[in-house]
Amino acid sequence: MKDVNIETTLTVYENFEELPKEVVLLMRKASEARLKAYAPYSKFLVGAAILLENGEIVTGNNQENASYPSGLCAERTAIYYAGAQFPGVKMLRMALTAGSQLQSTTTPIPPCGACRQAIAEYEVKQEAPIEMYFMGETGKIVKSASLANLLPLGFDRSFL
Ligand code: THU
Repeated sequence: MKDVNIETTLTVYENFEELPKEVVLLMRKASEARLKAYAPYSKFLVGAAILLENGEIVTGNNQENASYPSGLCAERTAIYYAGAQFPGVKMLRMALTAGSQLQSTTTPIPPCGACRQAIAEYEVKQEAPIEMYFMGETGKIVKSASLANLLPLGFDRSFL
């Protein structure tokens, strides 16, 4: 037997001033989307913004439901909309911001496991990475150069 060590490299930005300008713009779009989230049950608002290769920015936010599992995360709301409206157009980058209405959220909030799986599918489909940036409402911003970087040992079509 042998141990296998999996490494992930992330970049941490202290604030917006350190971020590239085009990412600041995308994160602002994600923040606008977050404020429009429908999250009456968790009161945890999440916004996502995706930059496409054609320059379009697609946004989404979490949509909750009285039947809790019927709700959907912001990331999947956005990425399925992008996939539906712009099939064949590459997704370059996704910005995420999340915050609770009950307390201030200053730590970077990463995408949940189900959303990582959904985003990973599009990286495989487009044969190119999607840059991921995520943060709380304020505070540090974390960048991952690809979704795959956040999902080691992922399940994909090669196993089918
Ligand atoms: N949520 C997201 O929108 N994205 C994530 O990656 C994590 C969780 C939403 C789902 C639910 O509406 C609320 O946050 C609390 O889990």
